Amino acid sequence: MAPAAPKIHIAALTLDYVNAETGAAHRAVAGLDLDVRAGEFLCVLGPSGCGKSTLLSAIAGFIRPTAGTLAMDGEPIRGPSAERGVVFQEYALLPWMNVLDNTALGLKLRGVARTERYATARRFLALANLHDVDHKYPHELSGGMRQRVAVARTLANSPEVMLMDEPFAAVDAQTRMVLQEELVRISERSPLTVFFITHSVEEAIFLGDRVAVMTPGPGRIREIVDVPFARAERTWKAMNADADFAALRERLLELVRAPAAANHDRSAAAAA
Ligand SMILES: Nc1ncnc2c1ncn2[C@@H]1O[C@H](COP(=O)(O)OP(=O)(O)O)[C@@H](O)[C@H]1O
Ligand SMILES: [Mg+2]
Repeated sequence: MAPAAPKIHIAALTLDYVNAETGAAHRAVAGLDLDVRAGEFLCVLGPSGCGKSTLLSAIAGFIRPTAGTLAMDGEPIRGPSAERGVVFQEYALLPWMNVLDNTALGLKLRGVARTERYATARRFLALANLHDVDHKYPHELSGGMRQRVAVARTLANSPEVMLMDEPFAAVDAQTRMVLQEELVRISERSPLTVFFITHSVEEAIFLGDRVAVMTPGPGRIREIVDVPFARAERTWKAMNADADFAALRERLLELVRAPAAANHDRSAAAAA
């Protein structure tokens, strides 16, 4: 049987930032190959500055490739689309709107009638474990709750792909574990494809069906590792006691810490 077509296909992708004044190019991503499978939860793991956010921005359609292929369902990505929802690290909620209106915003922009969009928003707020906060404003919520609203809002738009850029990095450690467990539960129930960026090895293993490890910048994919745990097994209580989890963490830590190949560094320096 032929392998299923990837949801997102990335080949030889190079992403440069060009300084508008000097014209100098800074290479953030260099010749990156990656296929994201339909319905999978893919974590992309890499050190700070390796190009993770830049890669996500390109998939979201916010920045254009310098070179290479970037496609969803076989069609080149040319700009942002409701098919690809984004959740950022910072709480991108509108401060003057209450939780319900923030969550229903995308639906409103698409012309969905009030009763229907509120019903949909409430359904996803409940899925994100948010109850009785419809009329609160973002500043009245904890960081963890604001991030739950951001996830609920993205899900309410029923995207095919959810792109998440270190969404839990700014919340405290206890809340982060709760949010991670909730995200596992949500992804278990939905046909969504998730592209999740993190610099945390533990988070990548806990959430991912696969973990793609990037090299130091300019980034490319060093290795892709399968995560063998069933979604239903993924609680921090179980994972912390699991020897396989610890072994996988050691392996991934080594991969993340390894320096970029020397010839790769030289080509990057030549390009800069
Ligand atoms: N808007 C920008 N203009 C120029 N360089 C940038 C810009 N954004 C990021 N960079 C640079 O591109 C590289 C990759 O950045 P980024 O994708 O944010 O990394 P990561 O998310 O992995 O920490 C870094 O060297 C960073 O300094
Ligand atoms: Mg980043």
